[in-house]
Amino acid sequence: MVDKKLSGAGLRGQEAGETALCTVGQSGTGLTYLGYDISELARDSTYEEVAYLILYGELPSVEELDKFCTRLSTMRNLPQELCATLESIPATAHPMDVLRTGISILGNFEPEGDHDRQYEVAERLIAASPSIVNYWYQYSHEGNRIDLDTRAKSTAEHFLRTLIGEIRHDLFVRVMDVSLILYAEHEFNASTFTARVCASTLSDMYSCVTAAIGSLRGPLHGGANEAAMELIQTFDGPEDAIQGILEKLSRRELIMGFGHAVYREADPRNVIIKGWSEQLSNLVGDTKLYPISCAIEKVMWEQKKLFANADFFHASAYHLMGIPTKIFTPIFVISRMVGWVAHVMEQRSNNRIIRPSAKYIGSEPRPFTPISDR
Ligand SMILES: CC(C)(COP(=O)(O)OP(=O)(O)OC[C@H]1O[C@@H](n2cnc3c(N)ncnc32)[C@H](O)[C@@H]1OP(=O)(O)O)[C@@H](O)C(=O)NCCC(=O)NCCS
Repeated sequence: MVDKKLSGAGLRGQEAGETALCTVGQSGTGLTYLGYDISELARDSTYEEVAYLILYGELPSVEELDKFCTRLSTMRNLPQELCATLESIPATAHPMDVLRTGISILGNFEPEGDHDRQYEVAERLIAASPSIVNYWYQYSHEGNRIDLDTRAKSTAEHFLRTLIGEIRHDLFVRVMDVSLILYAEHEFNASTFTARVCASTLSDMYSCVTAAIGSLRGPLHGGANEAAMELIQTFDGPEDAIQGILEKLSRRELIMGFGHAVYREADPRNVIIKGWSEQLSNLVGDTKLYPISCAIEKVMWEQKKLFANADFFHASAYHLMGIPTKIFTPIFVISRMVGWVAHVMEQRSNNRIIRPSAKYIGSEPRPFTPISDR
């Protein structure tokens, strides 16, 4: 067995390439997109402004933003053939599998061809992903063929309208918007790195994105917000939660929504989504989820010096807005789509195929024994 700490397992701390898109705590810079601090972006901008920034390198003017939003709003419909396939996928399917399949099918009907159209394809993927997941969800769970042509001003509004119908409070749209900003980009995380490896072979954008969705699906990456929700819901109140967490820790179980591969003391996204989760909790009169979440956060820090990452308070925030738990990880896809496609384009702009080496730890060279002699 290889010692994980000595072997540098997981490529921790190793620079595997260059990016101008994002910093994740390097040299005290914290989380920044194109030089802008996440707390300012989450406070003062919208997801579409951030998406434009990440795609085109600068914050948009009023006119540029208006045109960008209009383009996205006209790209949200899906080809009939794709809708038909989504209708054939059962309600029991994993929504991440649905997204992976949906994006892949879109690539058959609207192939990228050469890379001249990459910005158009990138925008199409950002616009189409909420439609794919919600069309399938509404048809398979409610028997509804939803109208995707909502002409909603924002991705957040389109997403909520097509998923939960009537939006009871304006705050829901703002929280969803902030959530999309927080998840939009995060340097060389597992799914983005997957997309870049795929891009480095000069593959098409759809292949890069479906590969990334596969990486994000795992519970150690995107699946953590769903797992956190399932955990929080097992407790009746804060005292019960503290007891339950202590027992889990004594069994050396992983507590989903805590810890991070890069951040060491805090995840800067946590304080932001935690604040919104508290506001939602007050708005809808929740007396359970938020206090339980706070109790778990406290005991995790006291016992293990482990902090809540971006996923933990997203669980209560999404739930309080009426979003089904199985749709939590797809929201991560919808948001991170912008980061993935921007990284694909950045990789293409200065490409060399990514092909690392492995340290060999296998058997010494040995003579081959024909099967008849074994
Ligand atoms: C994110 C994660 C994969 C990072 O893994 P990592 O870089 O290997 O983590 P660290 O090196 O910081 O782990 C240090 C120790 O804390 C433990 N630890 C880390 N996260 C933990 C958690 N959420 N619950 C309990 N223990 C945890 C590790 O098991 C390790 O213990 P060990 O030294 O006895 O082996 C890991 O923290 C995790 O699995 N978290 C839960 C899943 C999650 O929330 N993912 C979303 C990330 S944004």
